[in-house]
Amino acid sequence: MSGIKIIGMGHSVPKKVLTNQDLEAMVETSDEWIRTRTGIRERRICRGETHADLCVRSAQQALACAQVQPEEIGAVIVCTLSADYLTPSAACLVQRRLHLPEDTLSFDLNAACSGFLYGLHTMECLLAACPRKFGLVIGAEALSHLVDYQDRSTCVLFGDGAGAAVVQYRPEWPSIHAVLGARGDAGPLSIPGAGRGLPNTVSMDGQAVFRFAVETLPKCIDAVLSAAGLTPEDPDCYVFHQANARIIDLAARRYNLPPEKVAKNIDRYGNTSAASIPLLLSELWQAGTIGPGSRVLCVGFGGGLTWGGALVELGVRTNETAQ
Ligand code: ACO
Repeated sequence: MSGIKIIGMGHSVPKKVLTNQDLEAMVETSDEWIRTRTGIRERRICRGETHADLCVRSAQQALACAQVQPEEIGAVIVCTLSADYLTPSAACLVQRRLHLPEDTLSFDLNAACSGFLYGLHTMECLLAACPRKFGLVIGAEALSHLVDYQDRSTCVLFGDGAGAAVVQYRPEWPSIHAVLGARGDAGPLSIPGAGRGLPNTVSMDGQAVFRFAVETLPKCIDAVLSAAGLTPEDPDCYVFHQANARIIDLAARRYNLPPEKVAKNIDRYGNTSAASIPLLLSELWQAGTIGPGSRVLCVGFGGGLTWGGALVELGVRTNETAQ
């Protein structure tokens, strides 16, 4: 025992919509190719908003939803690979703009598309040792700054956005049963850093990542279900990283999951990397599809290569003194 529940969520996306038709005018592609190969119809891109703006707006919503005050937060983790600065971190910008106490642990975490699940697990461990038992985990990306809009094999896939979760830790709550891992390999997917003499835009071997995702998803699902002592019917909902609708549908068929249990919003946002899972969780919460008491099995996979799975339980704020 001892673990976290998500007690409030929020999300924010840029105003600017980039449709498949817009992309047809930029590269040799078609709405039909993009929709049938990926399930994406449109995505949002930052043109005016900063990465930090998306983080702050989603965190403000999540705090209001959780009824938690900024001074109660003990740690903030921003899961991202596309923040405004290498330093200061996005988490430090959030700490300042939300007036979180100066002794709040504030740092960014890069595990690409698995980032939010790495972040939740890290927060669960941190809050066990932290005097304040509320934490903020944000997944946020401004990938449009790292995409080459002349490369049709990648530019149609990615979008910008953010989702934030306020979590509470209690010793008597169950763990999220996180299953995390990595297989270091820059071949399938990379974004070179400064000083490499290479353009710092996404390059990807789509088929290699596709195969990796299709193999990894069931392994993560099985490992989380086994750690939590559950069967595939038990979770109320499944939220997978939104990389490709075909990857999600293959996993759903393998476990015979009814479509209403397998959420998707890739058609409207594309692949938003570390933001995709919290963005979808927040939309589902706001729509009333999930809420306090729901158990959601989440799986992420992507650059690194990394993977992560967890059984996320939603709840309501509980006072420290009430047992
Ligand atoms: N429009 C039209 N044609 C295109 C486009 C495009 N945008 N992109 C590629 N093509 C062409 C290719 O050139 C190729 O043409 P050819 O047969 O004449 O050579 C053909 O379409 C097929 O290309 P494939 O790459 O085989 O297409 P595939 O069906 O594999 O779909 C895709 C590509 C969508 C990228 C898929 O492989 C995929 O989703 N991969 C997984 C991506 C993923 O999960 N990423 C997650 C990590 S992201 C992160 O961590 C930041």
